[in-house]
Amino acid sequence: MKQKRMLHHKNQNIVLIGFMGVGKGTIARALIKKTKAFGLDTDDMIESMENRKIKVIFEDEGEAYFRKLEKKTAKWLEKNVKNCVISTGGGFYKVDHLEKIGTIVYLKSSFEGILKRLREHEKADLKLAKRPLLCDEEKAKQLFKDRVEAYEAKADVIIDVENKSAKKIVNELIKILQ
Ligand code: S3P
Repeated sequence: MKQKRMLHHKNQNIVLIGFMGVGKGTIARALIKKTKAFGLDTDDMIESMENRKIKVIFEDEGEAYFRKLEKKTAKWLEKNVKNCVISTGGGFYKVDHLEKIGTIVYLKSSFEGILKRLREHEKADLKLAKRPLLCDEEKAKQLFKDRVEAYEAKADVIIDVENKSAKKIVNELIKILQ
């Protein structure tokens, strides 16, 4: 657990970042339930904007196109959204001025911890199939290595999520963010 700078951000949003499968969506939903805040997910926003799944966007248009949509989404969030829990795609941390959207919380886990979490999930196949960058384990591991430091550098708060229940993680988060 690490806290870097003042948490009373002007937009009062909480932005969850971290690698694919670490549990950003799960933690966002638990946090939303507990705090009664509203929630948004950048991948969901992009899918509804495009009216197609992320996987299909990657297949039809390529990754660069998807990254542009992430940037567009970030600008819109910064301008329009307050008091919200925002879960993001694993590459969203790269958008310009992420810090302007809200307090950045990095959900931290080892790569092995993420694989374990995904494999234990009842819909494991689905979780892997919908993530184009997670299909090849070796490539995913390299991507994880390439990103780890950047995730930490972007974060206002780092929470170690490995082997912890969503409930415990959310309680820790609420304590820090108060
Ligand atoms: C990506 C992560 C995905 C999704 C896209 C790219 C990434 O989101 O945005 O497949 O670059 O790490 P999740 O982190 O929710 O899997």
